[in-house]
Amino acid sequence: MTTARESRSPGRSPSATTSLRAAFLIAIQGLAGIVLLPLLIVSFALVVIWVGLPMLALTLSLLRGLAMSQRRLARRILGVKVPMPYRKIGGEGLLDRLQIRLTDPATYRDIAWLLLTICLGFAVGLVAMIFYIVLPLGVLASPVIIRTYLTVTSSVLRRSDTEVMEQRIGELATSRAETVDTQSAEIRRIERDLHDGAQARLVALSMNLGLAEQMMEKDPQMSRELLAESRQSASVALTDLRGLVRGIHPPVLADRGLVGGLQALALAAALEVDVDVVMVGRPPAPVESAVYFAVAEALTNAAKHSTARTAWIWLRHNAGRLSVTVGDSGVGGAVASPGGGLHGIERRLAAFDGTVTVASPIGGPTIIAMELPCELSSEKI
Ligand SMILES: Nc1ncnc2c1ncn2[C@@H]1O[C@H](COP(=O)(O)OP(=O)(O)OP(=O)(O)O)[C@@H](O)[C@H]1O
Ligand SMILES: [Mg+2]
Repeated sequence: MTTARESRSPGRSPSATTSLRAAFLIAIQGLAGIVLLPLLIVSFALVVIWVGLPMLALTLSLLRGLAMSQRRLARRILGVKVPMPYRKIGGEGLLDRLQIRLTDPATYRDIAWLLLTICLGFAVGLVAMIFYIVLPLGVLASPVIIRTYLTVTSSVLRRSDTEVMEQRIGELATSRAETVDTQSAEIRRIERDLHDGAQARLVALSMNLGLAEQMMEKDPQMSRELLAESRQSASVALTDLRGLVRGIHPPVLADRGLVGGLQALALAAALEVDVDVVMVGRPPAPVESAVYFAVAEALTNAAKHSTARTAWIWLRHNAGRLSVTVGDSGVGGAVASPGGGLHGIERRLAAFDGTVTVASPIGGPTIIAMELPCELSSEKI
């Protein structure tokens, strides 16, 4: 759902001392690489007799650490952020973690970078240091050597445009499939609600009216009773239909927009809710609806699970992104699980390319941060 954004900013020329320090670090990276490569090869070879597994996990971690030091250096010297496109590793066992690393293209980019560093790093670092010390023009030449070296090696660590595109396409395909799933589930819910609610009441109403018609002559008293019952059925059916419509697009959103909708949610919540919502203009109706239901679920969770007395809603729109946070200072421990309300929020927002971050350490507080791209239109008058 989330993509690491690759940012580049024009690099400033590093000072001579910074260059000298960078040259030293590059040489050290080259040396470290020379030690790491044989370890990596031995670990791969020993995988067949199991002992290589923990060794491989360790050497891959060291390799990642070394590649990270290169990223930090490139950021300092070139002013360029080299992203870390590693796959997320959860709390799985050693084998799972290793499998994730070994199937991660970023690991092989790290290995390619390691080979380049071994071939060039020590030599480039040493030459840059010697130039700086002995040649009169070294102060000018060294930074150029270092910058060129870092530019080349960083490009190996960076994902290609095709890979970025492929990942994006994968994310969009997942999000589309989830949207289709959510919509079919929603349609099934509406069908069921209509079938069990309004439709059943209208059937009863029609039968009662039929009976009342037949009884009109023979038993006017009975027919009056049936008519009264029919009126009641009609009003219950109407209430059901209203409830259903409210579940599709709450009228408060149509009347008062998202700001009013969130205020209404806060008022109706089972705990005290502080609302800090600033927004000029209105998001598209489907976004308003998704955010409204997401906040409603987060508040319901706070009331149901957190034991907190107060919660808060915070909303801002900035640079084409809508950010909404719902928090409570309760017991914490919120975890999204398949089919649960929090997972539902993720699916709802994924349809709009939005993200949800749940921060809920044991002991609290719980903060559900939602963010989605959206443009605002001017407020309807
Ligand atoms: N604000 C919160 N404070 C503490 N625990 C929370 C909070 N929100 C959620 N949780 C925990 O996280 C779990 C998952 O929440 P989620 O909303 O996905 O499911 P649910 O509320 O149990 O069920 P549903 O939303 O489907 O009715 C909850 O069962 C609860 O244990
Ligand atoms: Mg819930």
